[in-house]
Amino acid sequence: MDRYDQTKLLLSGIVIGAGAVLAVQTISSVRRQDSTKKTQILKEDIRNGLEDCIGNTPLIRIKHLSEATGCEILGKAEFLEPGGSVKDRVALKLIKTAEEANLLTPHSGDKVYEGTVGSTGVSLAFICRARGYLAHICMPNDQSTEKSSLLLKLGAMVTLVPPAPIVDKGQFVNRARALAAAQTASETEPGRGFFADQFENPANWKAHYEGTGPEIYQQCGGRVDAFVAGAGTGGTLSGVGKYLKERLESVRVVLADPQGSGLYNRIKYGVMFDIKEREGTRRRPQVDTIVEGIGINRVTANFEAGRPYVDDAIRVTDDEALAMARLLVEKEGLFVGSSSAVNCVAAVRTAMKLGPGHRVVTILCDSGTRHLSKFWKKAGEVAGDEEMTLDGVLGCGEVGKGVSLEGEKSGYGV
Ligand SMILES: Cc1ncc(COP(=O)(O)O)c(C=O)c1O
Repeated sequence: MDRYDQTKLLLSGIVIGAGAVLAVQTISSVRRQDSTKKTQILKEDIRNGLEDCIGNTPLIRIKHLSEATGCEILGKAEFLEPGGSVKDRVALKLIKTAEEANLLTPHSGDKVYEGTVGSTGVSLAFICRARGYLAHICMPNDQSTEKSSLLLKLGAMVTLVPPAPIVDKGQFVNRARALAAAQTASETEPGRGFFADQFENPANWKAHYEGTGPEIYQQCGGRVDAFVAGAGTGGTLSGVGKYLKERLESVRVVLADPQGSGLYNRIKYGVMFDIKEREGTRRRPQVDTIVEGIGINRVTANFEAGRPYVDDAIRVTDDEALAMARLLVEKEGLFVGSSSAVNCVAAVRTAMKLGPGHRVVTILCDSGTRHLSKFWKKAGEVAGDEEMTLDGVLGCGEVGKGVSLEGEKSGYGV
């Protein structure tokens, strides 16, 4: 073998060796990938029915409001609940508590009765279907039709009654209570009637004390400067307010109250209103506002449960709520209902009072789709010629229509 042959042989050996090394490396890398795949543990995430999807909603930074105030304004996206509102949590807790107390048995003909302006009814209706009950909802006939239509499609019975004060037997809550008692007493109708009683039943505020409150606290990493919410039954404000106050000494809990509601005066001055409006004797019907779901003119157990934790109240006019709803769409693409708009106005005012650098949390209770026929019909053209601004939102409308508002705006810098 001459020198040329030797070199050729050497080079071939090197090429074959390198190829072999490469092949071994490739095979072992594929094997490694295979074994990683085999050992990777994939955790299943399957919900047991629709009611198992309730809670753990996102907390959203509302960018425009945050930038405009220099604070962080965060909205708990309850409009993403499976039943479309913050009331899903309450409806589930009311039913579970009743089951634990043996007041309800699935598939026995037991029926859940409730008096509601709609959202709690929708939540109860779908949870009842999911758990083997019938739902019978009594509601005032002046609410947006989306809710009653939806209730019927969910297979609930719906009784619409004229708006009336609580002293009237025909008032929607009294009607639901009476119908439940009548079913329980009936010898011909199967099953029992259970009156869910969201206004007085402590399971309501406990749903927020055990769910909404802890979620907000965790999502904020324990840093919350203020919590702002409206009150219908008062369950959200009481449950979240109590939870946060027990953990954060300096957190401020603020009621957002629509015009025509007596709760503002209850917080500010300790009374619902003056002698003409005294509790239990008021003859005028419902709260005088276009806003649905929050604002009330009587004291409820769920509001009183959290009243010691409430530091302040802010009145919001209908016009401010309508303008805020439009602003949220135009600047954020956020299409919310009337109570969420009230909450956002009050959150902004709270932020302005606290000053830049603070974190204010509020609730985005439900979607605007539930309010198309009433609230949103009045909201005017979105993204039309007139651009909404935060300055334009604050202070617009007839402040104090129908109620006294002494000192309402002092200290809020608007
Ligand atoms: C749309 C909407 N937002 C807010 C609320 C107020 O919640 P709470 O009853 O916890 O005060 C309700 C209550 O029914 C509601 O329907």
